[in-house]
Amino acid sequence: MQLDVIQTGLKEVEADALVLGHWSGAPFGGDLAEVDILLNGAISELAGIDANAEISGKRGELILLHTRGAIAAKRVLVVGLGKRPEADNILLQEASGTAVRFLREKNLTNIASALHRSHRLRGKGSKDAGPDPVKSAEATVDGAFTAIWEPGSHKTEKSGNSSAERFIVVEPDEGRLGAVTNGAERGRILAESANLARTLVNAPPNDLAPMALADQARAMAGEVGLGCDILDEDAMLRLGMGSLLAVSAGSENRARLVILKHTPLPNGPAVAFVGKGITFDTGGISIKAREGMEAMKGDMAGAAAVIAAMRAIVLLGLPVNVVGVAPCAENMLSGKAYRPADVVRCMNGKTVEIISTDAEGRMVLADALTYAVRNLGAPRVVDVATLTGACVTALGHACSGAMTNDPPLLEMVRRAAERAGEKIWELPLFSEYKTQIKSEIADLKNSGGRPAGAITAGMFLREFTGEVPWVHLDIAGTSSTHESRPHLAKGPTGVMVRTLVELASELSQ
Ligand code: BES
Ligand code: MN
Ligand code: ZN
Repeated sequence: MQLDVIQTGLKEVEADALVLGHWSGAPFGGDLAEVDILLNGAISELAGIDANAEISGKRGELILLHTRGAIAAKRVLVVGLGKRPEADNILLQEASGTAVRFLREKNLTNIASALHRSHRLRGKGSKDAGPDPVKSAEATVDGAFTAIWEPGSHKTEKSGNSSAERFIVVEPDEGRLGAVTNGAERGRILAESANLARTLVNAPPNDLAPMALADQARAMAGEVGLGCDILDEDAMLRLGMGSLLAVSAGSENRARLVILKHTPLPNGPAVAFVGKGITFDTGGISIKAREGMEAMKGDMAGAAAVIAAMRAIVLLGLPVNVVGVAPCAENMLSGKAYRPADVVRCMNGKTVEIISTDAEGRMVLADALTYAVRNLGAPRVVDVATLTGACVTALGHACSGAMTNDPPLLEMVRRAAERAGEKIWELPLFSEYKTQIKSEIADLKNSGGRPAGAITAGMFLREFTGEVPWVHLDIAGTSSTHESRPHLAKGPTGVMVRTLVELASELSQ
């Protein structure tokens, strides 16, 4: 979809439809009032005089009117924004996505939007901080580009909906044009990067084995100007990455360690992002139940989030050094597969007794974390992983689990997530849980059993971060959604891409 920011009046913009926002309970004002007058009261007429009003402004409401030559746009789509005090950027993002998906279904592919102008950001403390043109333009463009992503890439017969071709942000006010253009561009970079993560997660595991995932990362890096190193299994062996290699041993597809670098500054990295990249998780010898195993093609959503966030960070030109690390492997069964009772030696020298070969995520992350801290010199690390079913049991699909050895860093990640509109919730790493991963024969067990399964996985990872501040984000419940929403297709969500970018952005200040 093409993005344009155009300085023109609402009357003049040519499009299949012009999208406007409407607050419930508020008198018609601003753009809505202006267009209403141009349309001879066609919008206000719908507000009616009784309870049967066709237009109320409630959240998600869509009213499509034909303009019949009164303005250059052929139609006006009025999107309900709900009550004004509830206003936030997520609301605007959803409203924009809802409008775009609705119009696309009607094959209206040339969309103009003044939605960003309906926004009033409520600053904390002040009654009304006034509209922030950068943030509101970002939210509407992000919402629009997020909305057009669909999972049916391998269908031979394309769906009836033609995809939207052009999204025009209309800004009559010259004084706001620069800010709106910046925000719009930022929104597009974020959404297109998150869509890359979704496309990678959605890819079938026969198309996206570890080497193919590494190739995708390398190709992307070349396009946008990221540094990229890819380690093969020989290199991993030389580094002593015994836990990563143990997971990969059962597969015909060789593992890769992807390292992406954004280093605009002469000094070392400010942060490393580490993402679990299991391209398919059968569980290995501790094989998973057959029902639902297909969902395990998405077990590389952490790696996808890291790769996509690195793309956004370089395209936004953030003045901060960031490295991304993605251990990519496939967890299969064969005569070469690792087994329960095996003891493997990790890169940092710690030995691990395998209890379950299905607890493979922490095994690949262990060596990747060591690499990030020791070889890349990261002074802080954030890992993202579809790590445990227990996290889904604990928190469901509403938020990602967060664990840390450093409360201030978690606080920073929490702020970033809030700005990104993504929810995280802390689970405690109390020392009481440590006994669950103690082994008789080795330093650690790779599974602490059922109780507090998300936490014991976090406790395990903590053993590989040294003294470095670290946050672990378990996205097992949030990386995919089972229902489509008016603004969002079902399937992979691209979760944590925006949070990681916001974090990098905060570290750049
Ligand atoms: N990839 C799974 C976790 C998962 C489950 C992600 C459901 C998304 C949805 C992970 O590798 C796994 O199998 N974890 C085990 C750990 C256990 C063996 C200690 C689990 O959660 O059961
Ligand atoms: Mn597993
Ligand atoms: Zn897994």
